[in-house]
Amino acid sequence: MDEHDLVRRAVEAREKAYCPYSGFPVGAALLSSGGEVYTGSNVENASLGLTVCAERAALFGAVSAGERDFRALAVACGQGACTPCGACRQVLLEFAPELWVIMADARGNVHLQATLSELVPHPFGPGRRREQPPEQNRPQ
Ligand code: THU
Repeated sequence: MDEHDLVRRAVEAREKAYCPYSGFPVGAALLSSGGEVYTGSNVENASLGLTVCAERAALFGAVSAGERDFRALAVACGQGACTPCGACRQVLLEFAPELWVIMADARGNVHLQATLSELVPHPFGPGRRREQPPEQNRPQ
């Protein structure tokens, strides 16, 4: 699975998007360390706020299948680089701070590539949570 194939999988996943409210389909393809690919598309809802982005749909599917380690993510949408939203960056950070993120357009042209840590400077990750034992957070 090279980067070109991963982008192609993201473009294909984009075709499955359910986005009647925004009309903005997004596809994502997440490559695990073991070489498996998990795809996702954005799934909108009449309540709007319950919409799930393509990147999180892919990640939640992968984690639910037992994966914990990831190498790369390709995202495809619109024109220019499809850059993951802040919420997706934070959720991906939980598992893969050094994830290689490939940002493509709807036709699969790659416009930007970066590590997740470059996309999330000064992160709040799982390591920070472990700095304080839970007891110290309890009210007196
Ligand atoms: N969306 C994604 O799926 N991923 C992103 O990184 C940005 C936004 C979706 C959410 C919504 O369904 C539509 O794109 C418009 O914001």
